[in-house]
Amino acid sequence: MQTVPRRFLSPFLLAWLLLPAAVISIAAAAPPAASAPTARPPSFYETPYERRPDFRTLVALGRSLFSDKALSASGQVSCASCHDPAHAYAPSNRLPVQLGGPARNLPGLRAVPSLTYHQGIPNFQEHFFDNDGNDSEDQGPTGGLDWDGRADSGHEQAAGPLLSAFEMANPDIEAVVAKLRTSPNAAAMRAAFGPRVLDDSKHAWNGLLLALEVFQQSPADFYPFTSKYDAFLRGQATLSKQEARGLAVFNDKTRGNCAACHISQIKRGAFPQFTDFGLIAIGVPRNPVIPANAKPEYRDLGACGPLRTDLKSHDDYCGRFRTPSLRNVATRGVFFHNGVYTKLEDAVRFYALRDTDPARAYGALRSGRFADLPEKYRDNLNQEAPFGARPGNRPALTEAEVADVVAFLKTLTDGYGTPAKND
Ligand code: HEC
Ligand code: HEC
Repeated sequence: MQTVPRRFLSPFLLAWLLLPAAVISIAAAAPPAASAPTARPPSFYETPYERRPDFRTLVALGRSLFSDKALSASGQVSCASCHDPAHAYAPSNRLPVQLGGPARNLPGLRAVPSLTYHQGIPNFQEHFFDNDGNDSEDQGPTGGLDWDGRADSGHEQAAGPLLSAFEMANPDIEAVVAKLRTSPNAAAMRAAFGPRVLDDSKHAWNGLLLALEVFQQSPADFYPFTSKYDAFLRGQATLSKQEARGLAVFNDKTRGNCAACHISQIKRGAFPQFTDFGLIAIGVPRNPVIPANAKPEYRDLGACGPLRTDLKSHDDYCGRFRTPSLRNVATRGVFFHNGVYTKLEDAVRFYALRDTDPARAYGALRSGRFADLPEKYRDNLNQEAPFGARPGNRPALTEAEVADVVAFLKTLTDGYGTPAKND
């Protein structure tokens, strides 16, 4: 069994789960440093519920709320509609964007990410230092939830879809709580947080978000480390020749160099997450299938907007998206933030051809090279290997190597050895 390092849980969430209530309320009541004149408002984790449910109760409640369609305006959409537990918490279809909204007919703007292996994502920071020793360098903008890193915690993030006009489409918190009161989960909410929790909108709302957040931190559901590659790291499985070649290409700085961003090695005792959480611009093709892209002036620039609004003036962040984990990537129906590719081979081939054969990398999609990134932001594009060669140069990966990397990526799917889910 893989033991999960505790430090992966958010320190605040951990305190909530482990400390006795008294300690937290003392901490909350303690005067803030020095002579601050005004009291700090209680934090999310200091909500004074009548009862303090334990981790298991919250996970069970969160699991049930995650599939509760009654919490949406249409009555047809739950978190699980887009994040299907049977598909590594990503959609079961191959659409680049999913439908939501009051009548379930409004398209989203981005591909739905998998929710597995998010436990180690640090809060968003503009200057990230991996404290690996003295030579630690500034890795630039890193972390945060959503493709642009704009949400800092599971509970902050969960508020997004519940209130987004094109997802679960509730007009406000009151509307969500009203639905919660009559939902099949009302009794479980009261059992967990106390009989009056649904009478107070703030308590009900915070309890809902807390249960969703804690559920998403449940190791068995979200980060089981049961892939073939994990078995290989434990010395319990052997990679096939092709998988081993793919791993070598993935790690080789002169070929794939994938591991530079999608970390593949055990580090400080922790199994690899296949991401360094960095926000990077790689210039994937514009996806003409996304309805919002029918307007030529609409551009998803990631960290500098339009969905994220606090970094609008940072031209050097335009085009950057958070490097996703590649665990369970072979179960995805679409790839990259805009779901522009529907085959894993094509996503891997993009790295080989972006600079050496752009006509092939972009041409089939009828969207010009870097069409999503205006000229003035193109200095932001990453140029390290496998990128950086010139048109006509030999691609960093041969066709055979692309196939090998794909074979290796398939070893990152959880459920190795359990015949029902994976073959
Ligand atoms: C209509 C489809 C849809 C529904 C319903 C939905 N999501 Fe999402 N989810 C998305 C999309 C799309 C993104 C990426 C958003 C972005 O980057 O702006 C996302 C992102 C996330 C993320 C961040 C993942 C990451 O890689 O950073 C989490 C966590 C999440 N959703 C949880 C939830 C929860 C909890 C619910 C229910 C309360 C929910 N989602 C409902 C579509 C959906
Ligand atoms: C410089 C950092 C970097 C390197 C090197 C890199 N990637 Fe990525 N990778 C990213 C980022 C950033 C994204 C998301 C980009 C986006 O959606 O716009 C991504 C996304 C992906 C995706 C899509 C995952 C999903 O959930 O949609 C795949 C597949 C992938 N990378 C494979 C690879 C492979 C294979 C290599 C080596 C050939 C590689 N990457 C090298 C940063 C990197």
